[in-house]
Amino acid sequence: MVRTLARRIPRRLVALAAGALVLVVLGGCTLKHPTANLVRGKQLFVSKCGSCHTLSHAGATGAVGPNLDAAFRQDRADGYHSNDFRGLVDYWIQFPSNGNVMPAMLLKGQAAENVASYVAAVAAKPGQDTGALALAVANVNQKPAVEQNGALEIDADPTGQLKFLASSATAKPGSVTLKMKNMSSVPHDIAIKGAVNQVGPVVTGGGVSTVTATLKPGTYEFYCSVDGHEAAGMKGTLTVK
Ligand code: HEC
Repeated sequence: MVRTLARRIPRRLVALAAGALVLVVLGGCTLKHPTANLVRGKQLFVSKCGSCHTLSHAGATGAVGPNLDAAFRQDRADGYHSNDFRGLVDYWIQFPSNGNVMPAMLLKGQAAENVASYVAAVAAKPGQDTGALALAVANVNQKPAVEQNGALEIDADPTGQLKFLASSATAKPGSVTLKMKNMSSVPHDIAIKGAVNQVGPVVTGGGVSTVTATLKPGTYEFYCSVDGHEAAGMKGTLTVK
């Protein structure tokens, strides 16, 4: 898959370069790019793109679409620059391919430009973000969840990262309700597996997903059953004792 992508991109880059040339000729000096805000771009990437794409600098672990570090690695090696990638990513946001998985026009104008500039700046680059970029998206501060009156509160990360705010939870045997509030725009649910299998409703934008099960002592997993989210790390251990 990676090899096919790497082969596809340079062709697109060539097409884009030709397109950009036409624009420059037509628009002359009046065509200016406003300065991109990389901090905002990173925040938007995490909330709008990271649930489907892996990008190591952004801590994004999505696996629905191509890994963007892998997608751009060969192009970097071939000597293309961040500026070439920026145009490509911006173009992709407006016109994703016919796969119909990636929604078109997720972002427009300056917002798309910010995300495209951020992806272009960091994709396939070793190392980590520093300075203001390192602080752009809060690290998920996971704390164990403890049952209160038969309920466990295990909320989703509000910035859109594929994580719960708890990676472990404990409860007493009997009826246990798992409650997950999701303030992000990425759809999530909460589910339990082990001796029981239960899946709560998918919610987004402030919705609460709940699931109730009668649990015997033992170890269970809580997770998000939306495609790819568990694999990306949206899961934890529930100990009943
Ligand atoms: C719902 C999942 C989903 C979301 C959200 C999503 N993408 Fe994608 N993206 C995909 C898939 C799947 C592909 C592969 C091509 C296709 O089917 O459209 C893709 C392809 C791409 C590509 C081309 C990579 C290549 O190797 O050719 C880029 C760049 C990209 N996405 C960037 C973004 C950015 C930036 C965002 C956020 C604004 C975003 N994507 C949001 C699923 C997603």
